[in-house]
Amino acid sequence: AYTAEPFVPDGGGLPALRKAAADCRGCPLHRDATQTVFGAGAADARVMLVGEQPGDQEDRQGKPFVGPAGKLLDRALEEAGMDPADAYVTNAVKHFKFTQAEPRKRRIHKAPSLREMTACGPWLAAELAVVEPELIVVLGATAGKALLGSSFRVTQVRGTVLEEEIHGRPERLVPTVHPSSVLRADDREAAYSGLLSDLRVAARALG
Ligand code: URA
Ligand code: SF4
Repeated sequence: AYTAEPFVPDGGGLPALRKAAADCRGCPLHRDATQTVFGAGAADARVMLVGEQPGDQEDRQGKPFVGPAGKLLDRALEEAGMDPADAYVTNAVKHFKFTQAEPRKRRIHKAPSLREMTACGPWLAAELAVVEPELIVVLGATAGKALLGSSFRVTQVRGTVLEEEIHGRPERLVPTVHPSSVLRADDREAAYSGLLSDLRVAARALG
């Protein structure tokens, strides 16, 4: 089975994890992507935000949530009363998965498979073990399935505080939609205010 497990170092904190993840070959996604996009933020961050996978901009720059979805997320976090600089931001899958009709044509995001999500899970588990966040904000269905299992339905639990055991640790989580889904929505204003009210629940839960 595909797995990142043999690539994950035992100690050394976030710098060692980030360095090792750069050479991960735990699943085929490393082949076509530019680079591993590991999580970013402080090891003592109180909140961890988990997205799906890097997009085109993230793949080029090597940092999570630096493209259009990240801009929208930062704005919503600030409006909800959370400082984006105080959060640790990462993704369920660390390599960009895409289709491309021809070389030099636009790269179109493709959803990661369950096998790829499972393969990449040890990196997310290692990030959680180091950061030990007080709260996890789950951004969309892929992050939800990666953390809480394949029965996760974002519409059923968004904007609520869940308490679940994840990788042997009790965690508090607030799920919401993925910021990219707000950019794609027919009614963007309504979608944005939905995201915002979920993030306000997270801000309140942090205290
Ligand atoms: N979407 C994600 O899920 N993660 C990113 O880092 C960027 C866009
Ligand atoms: Fe490793 Fe995850 Fe990249 Fe697959 S997606 S190669 S498991 S870092």
